[in-house]
Amino acid sequence: MSARKHKIAVVAGDGIGPEVTEVALEVLGKVAGKRQFEVELRRFPFGGEHYLKTGETLSDASLAELRQSDVIYLGAVGSPKVKPGILEKGVLLKLRFAFDQYINLRPVKLYPGVECPIKGKGPEHLDYVVVRENTGDMYAGIGGTMMEGTDDEVAVQEMAYNHKQVARCLRYAFELAAARPRKTLALIGKSNVLTYVFKLWDRVFHSMGEAEFPQVKREYYHVDAACMMMVKQPERFDVMVTTNMFGDIITDLGAMIQGGLGIAAGGNINPVGISMFEPMGGSAPKYTGKNVINPIAAIGAAGMMLDTLGERAAAAAVEKAIMATTPKMKSQAAGKMGFGTTEVGDLVAGMV
Ligand code: IPM
Ligand code: MN
Repeated sequence: MSARKHKIAVVAGDGIGPEVTEVALEVLGKVAGKRQFEVELRRFPFGGEHYLKTGETLSDASLAELRQSDVIYLGAVGSPKVKPGILEKGVLLKLRFAFDQYINLRPVKLYPGVECPIKGKGPEHLDYVVVRENTGDMYAGIGGTMMEGTDDEVAVQEMAYNHKQVARCLRYAFELAAARPRKTLALIGKSNVLTYVFKLWDRVFHSMGEAEFPQVKREYYHVDAACMMMVKQPERFDVMVTTNMFGDIITDLGAMIQGGLGIAAGGNINPVGISMFEPMGGSAPKYTGKNVINPIAAIGAAGMMLDTLGERAAAAAVEKAIMATTPKMKSQAAGKMGFGTTEVGDLVAGMV
């Protein structure tokens, strides 16, 4: 019998991206060897440096090549030498949209030994997942400008959702909540002001919940109140589901509460297509090449990737190894870990 094999497209990217990607791939190689599966890596050069050299952000031909893979692993994309918006839209968002990665999955979990900025909160208070819709909202780019540069300038950027986008996102969130012990799903919205959009979300939320997931407890929070509760009583949350823009904002709040960008990992998921996993921190140019950046987020992203590839045991082993490593670290901040980037990688790899 031949071993299971997963084809992974690796976009290490810019800045510290390549460093943390190497560490994550080391852990991946180790766990693959132990769990009897194979990974076939194909590397792609996209990012700021590639754009400056070639003028290409991400061409259709490159997208076609990426399509040959089972999954994409992304280190970090971003360069101070490239105008804001070009790489975000031309690489990251283009990938999310091209592969219809309609879920942005962001676990917010406090690992042992990680300092939480909220006084009195420990790992037992912080273990939730944010399901952020990843294709619609203001991110879809519906809008425009008129009379630009004059006092009459009008700028429009629409929050738009169709029923399909809402339903598939909610279904994913319900399924996730149903599989977790607490079985609680909170819709995060702003139904007191954004009445059209949240009328749709609210209706599908309750009708789907009632018809298909009666075992899942349904809750609703306005996004501003949700931010308060994420700080005051994070133990309330199990699975949160929200729109793209609100999700972007609350997941950064979640990232800080779980110990910072050195820890936070995310997945851009198409449950029936090609998903992409990434650490949440950016390319952090000032730390490039110094071996000081925390690779836990990158390793966590690799773990999430294994889960999506169906390597559940390997994913669990990676998470366990992370949880055995964080208590040994002095801090989760770059340069203050008490270890170098590669040493943290070796610690995790030694325990998978
Ligand atoms: C994220 C990032 C992106 C987003 C940016 C870089 C386009 O902030 O993954 O949360 O806004 O989605
Ligand atoms: Mn963001």
